Amino acid sequence: MAKLTRPSLNNLRPFEPELPDLPIDEIKRRLGTERVAKLSFNENPYGPSPRAIEAMHKELTALHLYQDASGDALRATLARDLGVGPDQLILTNGADELILLTTLAFLDPGEEVIIPSPTFGQYAASTMAMGAKPLKVPLRDFRIDVNAILEQVTPRTKMVFVCNPNNPTGTIVSRGELAQLMQELHEDILLVVDEAYVDYVTDPSYNSALDFLRSRKALLIIRTFSKLHGLASARVGFGIGHASIIDSLQRVRPPFNVNRIGQVGALASWQDVAYQDTIRDLNTENRQYLYDILTEHKLSYIPSETNFVLVDTHQEAATVYKRLAKAGIIVRDAALFGLPRHLRITVGRKEDMLWLGETL
Ligand SMILES: Cc1ncc(COP(=O)(O)O)c(C=O)c1O
Repeated sequence: MAKLTRPSLNNLRPFEPELPDLPIDEIKRRLGTERVAKLSFNENPYGPSPRAIEAMHKELTALHLYQDASGDALRATLARDLGVGPDQLILTNGADELILLTTLAFLDPGEEVIIPSPTFGQYAASTMAMGAKPLKVPLRDFRIDVNAILEQVTPRTKMVFVCNPNNPTGTIVSRGELAQLMQELHEDILLVVDEAYVDYVTDPSYNSALDFLRSRKALLIIRTFSKLHGLASARVGFGIGHASIIDSLQRVRPPFNVNRIGQVGALASWQDVAYQDTIRDLNTENRQYLYDILTEHKLSYIPSETNFVLVDTHQEAATVYKRLAKAGIIVRDAALFGLPRHLRITVGRKEDMLWLGETL
């Protein structure tokens, strides 16, 4: 049977959930405890906007009917508010699907894709699934190194992924660095900027890649409702780009990829600006609380613009990970990202951070 599988998949593995990847109830069952803080998925611990919950609840009675395949109501609103045309916006089943569709639409076997490292794992996985070659470029001081990316460009380079802010470091590419990349990266190379955590950013030197849409055609921006909007399992992501880029993606999009509940939930959440502000403020406050706890424990960390923090444990992080997990606090061992001394800790509620402080 193995012969049936495309050779490009030989280096890929199915997603095998480990403890930090399991649903909370299953973690509780396995640990035999009622109290669990799941700080491994960068989820919003406060849940969706009440307005989104109400809208999704109302929509349940229509689940027997196929939804609007192109999600026009949501798409038109997002496009209008972001200052682009509806033909410049595509809705997807989370940002993950958009990453896969992007590689499907634009990559041929043998082409090269530049990916900073460490970063979100799906860029390399989707690239390899198409038979293309991920070329990893190390970060510099835990920040994406624009000059190093530009140095790696060859005639075979087809795409560059930039996660801004970056997962797992929480660091940003500044406005100036982004401008340099836009200008110096050849116009035939698709620059994909993943802004999954954009809604949390407060640093004034940050610029969304949206501001470069007019000057660069080969640009795709990825967003999601899974993080600050707290709609992770509603599965709504979206891409913004030049109409020709979006058109290519629309050719490979399964027609009913974004479900009915997700569409109305995302729309209501998008319009609930007060809720978004509240969640951002709470995150900033709780993140400072986490910083203070880490400092008290003499642990260093990378200052973050997101809802997670990369922490240097100054020892093998697996030891600390196991100790926390035993108590019910589930964080991410960054060995997964090639950082065996680090943990990535999602900013939780204040009480979760307090508990972490007591347990560390
Ligand atoms: C940088 C980044 N991009 C994309 C995603 C995927 O998000 P979604 O839930 O929208 O598929 C994540 C999820 O953790 C992420 O960290």
